[in-house]
Amino acid sequence: MKIEKVCILGGTGFVGHALVSELAARGIQVRVLARRREHAKPLILLPTVEVVEGDIHDERVLVRAFEGCDAVINLVGILHESIMGRVDSPEHRRGDFHQCHIELPRKVIGACAQAGIDRLLHMSALGADPTSRSAYQRSKGIGEAIVREAGMVPTYEPGTLYGAKFTARRGLHVTIFRPSVIFGPADSFLNLFARLLKFLPAIPLACPQAQFQPVYVRDVARAFVESIDNPGAFGQTYDLCGPKRYTLIELMQILVHVLGIRRKIIPLTDRFSYWNAWLLEWKPGRKIMTRDNYYAMQIPNVCTGAHPLPPDWHPADLEATAPGWLQGISQRSGYQRYRNRAHR
Ligand SMILES: NC(=O)c1ccc[n+]([C@@H]2O[C@H](COP(=O)([O-])OP(=O)(O)OC[C@H]3O[C@@H](n4cnc5c(N)ncnc54)[C@H](OP(=O)(O)O)[C@@H]3O)[C@@H](O)[C@H]2O)c1
Repeated sequence: MKIEKVCILGGTGFVGHALVSELAARGIQVRVLARRREHAKPLILLPTVEVVEGDIHDERVLVRAFEGCDAVINLVGILHESIMGRVDSPEHRRGDFHQCHIELPRKVIGACAQAGIDRLLHMSALGADPTSRSAYQRSKGIGEAIVREAGMVPTYEPGTLYGAKFTARRGLHVTIFRPSVIFGPADSFLNLFARLLKFLPAIPLACPQAQFQPVYVRDVARAFVESIDNPGAFGQTYDLCGPKRYTLIELMQILVHVLGIRRKIIPLTDRFSYWNAWLLEWKPGRKIMTRDNYYAMQIPNVCTGAHPLPPDWHPADLEATAPGWLQGISQRSGYQRYRNRAHR
């Protein structure tokens, strides 16, 4: 299967930028469907990239965007909902997570059927599980199951899974990716903690023993690109992890070392971690932590062999890669971040 043109949803984000650049570098034409064209400004400069603006949640818009493409990649995902209220309330269940992680994959599958697309790559997350206590992981798990099911549907018959109806095309070849936390120059994980450490004299740390296996964004992008026309990847679910496991407090200690500073890190007990998350939920503006994140962090976010790693997987080491950009974190680098966030 020769893939010459790909449509990407979520191409304007952190992983999207790395993936679109990797595809463009390999001469593949890329159509980025974005809610706002200006979110994709740096991508417009790449020679094989076309940016189309449209309502990503409208199936007719998806069909139009997919026409003429050989494959679709769905990266859309959010870590926090904009809806406030109890995590288990009905509006939470039907909120942004439902729309982005369950409804959207269902619409993407339907649009693939209508546009004649038979290759779909879907971004899930390590820990995604339809039975998870975390609404993020639960919705990601249901979305993943819908996509996996679509890859197995033998006919054009409409299917129903977890209450969501979908129509899949015969022979839709799907590949699902489940990364642990992803790091890179523009990530919102290491960079966030590095900035907090840089500017606060002491930092209370919720869930200090939470486990992660951070994976480099370029390795994630490469896993997608190398799978796209590889028949061996059809129907596969790959976990994506870096070479080492870390607890959250170990990651903080690495950051302190890399930044060359002395900071007091105060590990919180489980009960205080929960209340800290509850308190931060009410912080206006950008979310740092919610109780939903607290629930997600109760399960180690590491590769356990439940799903295979991609073939030839040699991921970059965090301690060797991250200092390159973390050491440059300063007040001035903050200004560039504000410009990026304002899409300027
Ligand atoms: N980063 C990680 O550590 C990590 C770990 C595991 C899994 N993942 C998954 O990887 C994917 C990409 O993550 P990322 O870090 O690149 O996220 P990101 O930087 O926040 O980008 C998310 C993308 O989704 C789009 N999007 C956000 N909310 C949307 C909505 N309501 N409707 C339509 N589009 C929406 C954004 O488009 P706009 O530009 O229009 O806002 C953006 O292109 C997600 O599915 C995420 O769950 C990420």
